[in-house]
Amino acid sequence: MILVTGGAGYIGSHTVKALRARGEDVLVADDLSEGHEAALLGAPLAKGDLKDMDYVRSLFEGRKVEGVIHFAASCYVGVSMTRPGFYYRQNVQALLNLLEAMRDAGTKTIVFSSSCATYGVPDEIPITEECPQNPINVYGTTKLVGEWMLRDFGRAHGIRSISLRYFNAAGADPDGELGEDHDPETHLIPLVLQAALGKREKISIFGDDYPTPDGTCIRDYIHIVDLAQAHLLALDAMREGKETAHAYNLGNGEGYSVAQVVETARKVTGRPIPAEVAPRRPGDPPRLVGSSARIEKELGYKARFPRLEEILETAWQWHKAHPDGYGDRETKGEA
Ligand code: UFG
Repeated sequence: MILVTGGAGYIGSHTVKALRARGEDVLVADDLSEGHEAALLGAPLAKGDLKDMDYVRSLFEGRKVEGVIHFAASCYVGVSMTRPGFYYRQNVQALLNLLEAMRDAGTKTIVFSSSCATYGVPDEIPITEECPQNPINVYGTTKLVGEWMLRDFGRAHGIRSISLRYFNAAGADPDGELGEDHDPETHLIPLVLQAALGKREKISIFGDDYPTPDGTCIRDYIHIVDLAQAHLLALDAMREGKETAHAYNLGNGEGYSVAQVVETARKVTGRPIPAEVAPRRPGDPPRLVGSSARIEKELGYKARFPRLEEILETAWQWHKAHPDGYGDRETKGEA
């Protein structure tokens, strides 16, 4: 059995779907504070909070957990700066509990959601795994600490891990069953598409005076289905006993500016998307573009949806069909 923490969240749910599609036995651990029950598509759920060690231990009791994919985390960069304690508990304490429970249960394999946020402001583009990791926000620091914990538990207890450092996850399940639904929504692509739907009056472009060709920030958007697939490859490589690296980047090696995303979304949706320039958002590096060369070479990763148009197209289908996301706002508690 594969234990997927945060399996009701955006990246987790797409990965759970991919695992079950190939016949894996999956158990999702999620507190549903940010994830959605409907996103499980019927996958079994053990609801609980990973900060609770008794709950974490219970996940391993009476089951043979062969491997873990650990998505559960809080991921708002802005909040992480004002509530560092909360972020350390959510992202570091939870992983520590999980690793100790794995150690005691004899589970030796884990795939970890790390982030390009661990690099901070990079010295060179595209970013490779060898670039120095100097996070500039608390969220990125908690992910870097997670990578270190995995390394140390690997050395001491033989737990094998792969950290996947994602760039900007975007897009939606091409079957239309799953998509992006955060509350509050802060990510560029869903906000742009909500503006296309008329659910928002306009989109704010955070800064047009960055040292980039059009002055807006550049990011590397990667399709959620490609990200999900990369988790399966990482799991398989460890199961097969392949030699693997400690971490792999996951980006498309192609950067798009905020202005380009808005413009491409206008084309894809055929709708006007009013945009206005607003002040810079603190903590935004001007340009983040990642090289996925290592995972391509070592694990055979290949993006199915590398083009921004396709990423936007699948996201647009989801937003059009689900203007209120999973529609569970009323029943969800405070995140
Ligand atoms: N942006 C706008 N207007 C908006 C929202 C975003 O201009 O209304 C801009 C941002 O300033 C940024 C770009 O669009 O330049 C992308 O912003 P997102 O919030 O979509 O994504 P981020 O690049 O900030 O965040 C992503 C992940 C985080 C991760 C971070 C690392 O979502 O989890 O990369 O930098 F920590």
